[in-house]
Amino acid sequence: MFNLSKFTSIAPKNILGIDMGTASIKVVELSKSRKGINLVNYGILEAKGHLERINDAIQTSSLDIMDAETAETLSLLLKNMKTSVKDVVLSLPAFSAFTSLLELPEMAADETSQAMRYQAKALVPMPLDQVTIDWLRIGKYKNEHGNSIQKVILIAVPTKQIQKYQSICQRAGLNLKALELETVSLARVLTGGDSTLSIIVDIGARSTAFAIASGGALIYSAQADFAGSSLTHALAKGLGINVLRAEELKKQKGLMGTGGEYEVSTLMLPYLDVIINEAKRVIEGHEKNHQEKVDRVILSGGSANLLGIEKYVSDKLKMSTIKADPFGTKISYPQAAAPVLKNVAPALSVALGLGSRVFLNDK
Ligand SMILES: Nc1ncnc2c1ncn2[C@@H]1O[C@H](COP(=O)(O)OP(=O)(O)OP(=O)(O)O)[C@@H](O)[C@H]1O
Ligand SMILES: [Mg+2]
Repeated sequence: MFNLSKFTSIAPKNILGIDMGTASIKVVELSKSRKGINLVNYGILEAKGHLERINDAIQTSSLDIMDAETAETLSLLLKNMKTSVKDVVLSLPAFSAFTSLLELPEMAADETSQAMRYQAKALVPMPLDQVTIDWLRIGKYKNEHGNSIQKVILIAVPTKQIQKYQSICQRAGLNLKALELETVSLARVLTGGDSTLSIIVDIGARSTAFAIASGGALIYSAQADFAGSSLTHALAKGLGINVLRAEELKKQKGLMGTGGEYEVSTLMLPYLDVIINEAKRVIEGHEKNHQEKVDRVILSGGSANLLGIEKYVSDKLKMSTIKADPFGTKISYPQAAAPVLKNVAPALSVALGLGSRVFLNDK
């Protein structure tokens, strides 16, 4: 069994957080100094072709990753970054995992492991010999009988998926130190040190990840197959233009078009509404099952840069909505990089969350 999240062998030296999205690979190199965590370097490699041809996506929901090609692309990006760091933490897309929040009596870690294996038999909708099971303890409370109850999130990932990533890293000459579900990374970096119960909506190119989280811990994870590319395709079809032009127009006008350009937003809104409705379903499900109110939406991923999206989501969900700030006060960066990072920050959330786990001593 590959240890998904519990590892101890990382020395406090520089680490790479690598987020392999469908449209791009994002890498951050982080270091730790006495003042805190620092961004040393970062790189983003976008595969423009993903908009036109499905096979050009870096990875697809069908787990069909071309290992050798991906390893080559990754090596190229690392070469361009001029980094010599080999230790990496890699993200697993939310669509590849099954998660469930469970409550059990407090017990030792090895007993919890056993209990989770038992629970997995009943809960995980895949043959157990084909999945790797992991769990994270996210909190505890005393019930009405005075017994200590722990809240544990069960994570099951197809072992095949894990082997693919191991193979990619091996081919690229990297030491894979840990794999982590992207929603776990998002929860850490976007809600760490803040107890507001939040829903993180990470709108990428092909898929949107939803994470209910608080205090840095993931509580619930889900995903939808609508994201930024859905908006681009809606524009291309509606206006009869090619996807590259539509992509440009989307980034330029967002939801702010007026007059003749008003059409740009009206064409995209039905797809954005699908994402928002899914967020609503996740929020309502959590509120019903756990009797606690979700108070805030955090928009992450490249599509969080869509002009006007915060206000639109806030009006629709009637909830305070902010754009992700994965650097926050925890991760510092060179001042000279500030103007560029302002725009790319929401897309770096997963990579920064991955890299920072090593230094936050939460494992
Ligand atoms: N300024 C912008 N306005 C609107 N959309 C944007 C902007 N900048 C980037 N995007 C969109 O963000 C998406 C890419 O986001 P991201 O880098 O988070 O995706 P990814 O992680 O590669 O994909 P996925 O998470 O689906 O695997 C693209 O659809 C792109 O069009
Ligand atoms: Mg992504």
